Amino acid sequence: MVQQSAKVLWNRALGGAYHKIGLQCRRGMGRLKPGQFVMLRVSGGVNPLLRRPFSVHMPIESEGRVTGIEILYKVVGQGTRLLAGVTPGDSLDLLGPLGSAFLLPENTRRIFIVAGGIGVAPMVFLAGHLLNRGVAAEDVTVFVGGRTSSDLLCLNDFDRLGIACRTATDDGSAGDHCLVTLPVELAVDGRQPDVIYACGPLEMLKCVSGIAENRGIACQVSIETRMACGMGACLGCAVAVRNAPGVYVHACLDGPVFDLQEIQLFEPAD
Ligand SMILES: Cc1cc2nc3c(=O)[nH]c(=O)nc-3n(C[C@H](O)[C@H](O)[C@H](O)COP(=O)(O)OP(=O)(O)OC[C@H]3O[C@@H](n4cnc5c(N)ncnc54)[C@H](O)[C@@H]3O)c2cc1C
Ligand code: FES
Repeated sequence: MVQQSAKVLWNRALGGAYHKIGLQCRRGMGRLKPGQFVMLRVSGGVNPLLRRPFSVHMPIESEGRVTGIEILYKVVGQGTRLLAGVTPGDSLDLLGPLGSAFLLPENTRRIFIVAGGIGVAPMVFLAGHLLNRGVAAEDVTVFVGGRTSSDLLCLNDFDRLGIACRTATDDGSAGDHCLVTLPVELAVDGRQPDVIYACGPLEMLKCVSGIAENRGIACQVSIETRMACGMGACLGCAVAVRNAPGVYVHACLDGPVFDLQEIQLFEPAD
């Protein structure tokens, strides 16, 4: 993990509340893996004081070397509003890469990737990484869900990789008119994936986890808890350990990607 001043290469509005920012990183990104994140200080001043966590959307490569990262972000509050205002040539304090990555279990052939809303941010990097590791594009199915059509992001990126993408919206404005977990549930018995990777709202993760668990399918989830420090110092990102009442791990250090077997997403039954 490295702290550095990252130069803003671009900061583009994508429509709606979504933006992509490119950051030049002079060091530290050589071993970057999909699922890892960075903590960004979004203002030069004291307000907001705390860095904000963002997944690496894509590495930026030059001559075979990772020279920066791109972040896909949604404006939701003060910090991300400030981030949307930075311009090329500005510098941002960046800490990272941090946290765990999505892993490819041995003998994996068929894969489901499930993304809800901005949870799609780390999934294009993941999909490309899987193909580089020898997974066939036709063995990967991506499910992208959002509230409305403008929340369905990165579809062209998956298309470019040759990966089939199913979409769903809450309001029916694009794709299936349902939660994204319904097409997952309908497809899972036919396709029989060996592993499911998921990132999105907690309720979506719970549902995906239930689908995987009922069928004994391996499942890795990226948990986007609120994080104040990103380094294991504040205990603000505690996640309960499965079958160990009162035991917690840090989403920032031990996660954000967890094997479903490690953590307790559900309240234990009485
Ligand atoms: C590991 C990790 C990776 C992330 N990756 C991305 C990413 O790639 N792109 C992206 O846009 N966002 C990502 N997030 C969420 C992002 O960190 C928050 O949206 C951001 O910190 C909000 O800052 P803010 O000052 O704009 O909003 P605040 O003023 O802090 O909050 C505004 C609203 O957003 C809610 N909120 C804040 N943080 C979170 C969170 N972590 N989860 C759910 N709701 C939250 C608050 O409850 C509040 O309602 C990630 C979070 C984590 C922990
Ligand atoms: S964010 Fe501070 S301990 Fe994890």
